[in-house]
Amino acid sequence: MNGPAAGARRGPFISFEGGDGVGKSTQISRLAARLRENGQEVVTTREPGGSPGAEAIRALLVSGPSDRWSPMAEALLMFAARADHLEKTVNPARARGAAVLSDRFADSSMAYQGIAGALGEDQVAALHRLVVGEDGPDLTIILDAPIEIGLGRAGARGGNNRFEAKGPAYQEKVRQAFLEIAAREPGRCVVIDAARDADAIEADIVRAVQQRLGLG
Ligand SMILES: Nc1ncnc2c1ncn2[C@@H]1O[C@H](COP(=O)(O)OP(=O)(O)O)[C@@H](O)[C@H]1O
Ligand SMILES: [Mg+2]
Repeated sequence: MNGPAAGARRGPFISFEGGDGVGKSTQISRLAARLRENGQEVVTTREPGGSPGAEAIRALLVSGPSDRWSPMAEALLMFAARADHLEKTVNPARARGAAVLSDRFADSSMAYQGIAGALGEDQVAALHRLVVGEDGPDLTIILDAPIEIGLGRAGARGGNNRFEAKGPAYQEKVRQAFLEIAAREPGRCVVIDAARDADAIEADIVRAVQQRLGLG
């Protein structure tokens, strides 16, 4: 059976956004542990990826030279992965009442490809309506830090991919783009100062999740 149990509420969907190294993965595992301690089923996932089909597409997106894909081709691959991720992972988990925590979601497309990138916001918004519709996150945690901090942490971790390779000016535009998205949708987005220690960031995230979703 795929539908929700009788009377079960659709599980909450929380996305984590921000540049590389701001602490998304760290904070997702902390919040997941906390919610599980409270008896909440949690599914942690990531984009691009999060389902077998989307992970196969991810391999095409993150490897190779930074000019491997045209802006439109890249966005279509991102949204193809997102469609599969929603169909196979996110929506089924929520239908059984699980909370879904995603490391990046559609705001990354709007920030990287739409606002900071060459595709433009209107094109990304059109793809968003088509693919995501009403199935987007209830709450989006935007982890914000000066790009040197994120790049320093990500560098220490050894991460390097096509997006990190686009340089600091682009990364700064991406940071501003996330802040702009948050300003446009304050009901969904919370900006958290991620230049602090992980415990302080976690405390703010827990407060936001409690206040906005009544969870944890
Ligand atoms: N608040 C923090 N202060 C210092 N280092 C951190 C903090 N949060 C995470 N880190 C470390 O920085 C690196 C990047 O964190 P990570 O959670 O992987 O970021 P992201 O998923 O956003 O790229 C990791 O090595 C992690 O242990
Ligand atoms: Mg990560």
